Formats: sequence, C-alpha cells, structure tokens
Amino acid sequence: MSIKTVLRMGHPTLSSRSLEVSQFDTPELHELIQDMKDTMAHMNGAGIAAPQIGVLKRVVIFGFDNNVRYPSEDAVPFTILINPKIEPLNEIMEEGIEGCLSVPGLSGSVPRHVKIRYQGYDPNGDIIDRTVTDFHARVVQHECDHLDGILYPARIKNFSSFGFIE
Ligand code: NI
Repeated sequence: MSIKTVLRMGHPTLSSRSLEVSQFDTPELHELIQDMKDTMAHMNGAGIAAPQIGVLKRVVIFGFDNNVRYPSEDAVPFTILINPKIEPLNEIMEEGIEGCLSVPGLSGSVPRHVKIRYQGYDPNGDIIDRTVTDFHARVVQHECDHLDGILYPARIKNFSSFGFIE
C-alpha cells in the first residue's frame, strides 16, 4: 500500500499521451492499481488516472457510493478500466461541474457526452463493455482524457464557471 504524490497541472507528464498496457495480471500492474486506489482514497477522489501518479499507462480507476466532492451525484460502481475506448452514442452534451485531483481547489463546468459506450479490460484482461449515462459517463470521459494528456480546464467553454471552490 502506498499513497503517491498526485502531479499538478503544469507537470509535463499530465499533458503526455499514455501507452497501452500490453500484459495483464502482472505484479507491476497490480501494484500500480493498488497505488492508484490508495491515493484516490486518501484524497477522496471520484477517480484517478495512472499519469496523475506519474505512470504513463492507459489505466484509470473510478467509482464511489457517496463522494464528498460530488455529494448530489448518484453512485458509480467501482471500476478498474485499462486501454479504454469511448464511443458517444448520440450528439447530446450537457454541462456539469468537475474538479480534478491534479487541479486542486478549483472547479468548473465542462460539457460532456451524456450517453456513451465504453470498452476496455479489467486487470486480468477480461473485457469490460458498458453503456452508461450522466455522471457515470462524465467520470469516464474525464478520467480517459487524462490518458491523452487532457485536463478538464481545456474542455471548458464557459469560463465564468471556473474558479476556486472556497
Ligand atoms: Ni482528473
């Protein structure tokens, strides 16, 4: 178990593209996922992506029953998602408030697809294939953006919503 330092916006790793995982069920992969879990739990995150702890691999984790950062949102099942692919299922986008462990103290409204299909693998290499909506879809889009070096402020259209939470 170890809690890692979360890189902050401006660190070059956060704007890099992460690489596909080629081997599943390895000690290295399990250790990475455990570090991500520990770090996310320590910071009360709704999700975290591997590059946020300095590892440029296409691994994200997310999910919560209740989250202090998003108290009004429905639960999202805890998921470990590797080499994800996202397909928007229609053109509808909706604004919603997001924060990020790499952008501490700030939040802003971000347009995201409301309904998506996502596919990928779990740590054993078994296929994950889900169709989801709303906050679940938002969290997946936010976390997967990290794998392409995109932080949510780059998605903001209405900057009057962007600012310090306090
Ligand atoms: Ni984030």
